[in-house]
Amino acid sequence: MQAICRELRLKGAVLGLVPTMGALHEGHLSLVRRARTECNALAVSIFVNPLQFGPGEDLARYPRTFEEDCRLLEAQGVELLFAPEAAEMYRPGAVTTVTVSEVGDRLDGASRPGHFTGVATVVAKLFHIVGPSRAYFGQKDAAQLAVLHQMARDLNFDVEIVGCAIVRDADGLALSSRNKYLSTTERKQALVLHQALLRMEKMIAEGERQNDVLMREGTKFFQAGTGVRLDYLAIVDPNTLVPIASVKGNTLVAVAAYVGSTRLIDNFIST
Ligand code: PAJ
Repeated sequence: MQAICRELRLKGAVLGLVPTMGALHEGHLSLVRRARTECNALAVSIFVNPLQFGPGEDLARYPRTFEEDCRLLEAQGVELLFAPEAAEMYRPGAVTTVTVSEVGDRLDGASRPGHFTGVATVVAKLFHIVGPSRAYFGQKDAAQLAVLHQMARDLNFDVEIVGCAIVRDADGLALSSRNKYLSTTERKQALVLHQALLRMEKMIAEGERQNDVLMREGTKFFQAGTGVRLDYLAIVDPNTLVPIASVKGNTLVAVAAYVGSTRLIDNFIST
C-alpha cells in the first residue's frame, strides 16, 4: 500500500484518504463522495482497530461486512482499498503509540480511557502509509475530529483534515455501524439523543446562552424509564473540548448515551 501510494504521489496524484472500521453506511459513503470530488485518487481503509477498544468493549462483535463494503466502494469508484490484518498493522514488538493529551482525555476520551491513543496511533500510521493530501472524517465523531486536528498540528502532518456533516436516518438518528446492535424497541429509544439535541438547539436559537440552563433541559430527556442511560452531555469548545459556561461563537453540544448495552453518540455545532 505504501509503495503504491508513493508511486501515485510521484505521478502527481492528489491522494484522498477515508479511514473506516467497515460496516459501511451512507455516513461513510458521504465522506467517500466528498473525497471523490476533491481528490484524484482515493484510498479507503477498513480496519477494526483493536487498539481503540477498551477491555469489555465490543471489539469481538463489531459488525464486519467486508464483501458488502467492497461492493459499495467499487460502486463509488474507489481505486484503493486498504484492509490489513491486525498482525500486519501492529507487528510483534511494536511499542510506539501516539497520545494526544488534554483534548484526548475529554468527552469520549474520559469515558473510554485510552480510546483516543488507539485512534491517534492508527490514524498516524495510516497517514504514513498512504501519505494523503486530504483525509476525511465525520463530524459525528466530534471529539475524534478535535483530537486528530490537534495531532496533525502537533506532529506536522502535511495533510488537510476535512470534517464532514453528520448523515442521519429519516427520523433523525445519526447513522452508525453500532445501530446494527439495536433491537426494534431500542432503535425507537435511541431517538432521544437527537431529540435532546434538537431541544437544546432550539433554545439556543431562541436566545438561551447559559450552559446550566441548557444542560438541565437536555438532561431531562434521559430520565429513568427512557431505557437510555446518559454517559455525558456537554457544551464545549469544539477545538479543545473544554466546557464553556455561556454559548458564544462556535460551540459543540455533544451527547453520549447507552441504549441497552449500545453506546451511541451525537452532537451539533452552534455557530
Ligand atoms: P468508523 O466509526 O467506521 O467511522 C469512519 C468515519 O466515518 C469517521 O470519520 C466517522 O466520523 C464517519 N462517520 C460515521 N458515521 C457517520 C455519519 N452518520 N455521518 C457522517 N460521518 C460519519 O471513526 C472510526 O471509524 C475510527 O475511529 C477510525 C477513524 C477509522 C480510526 O480507527
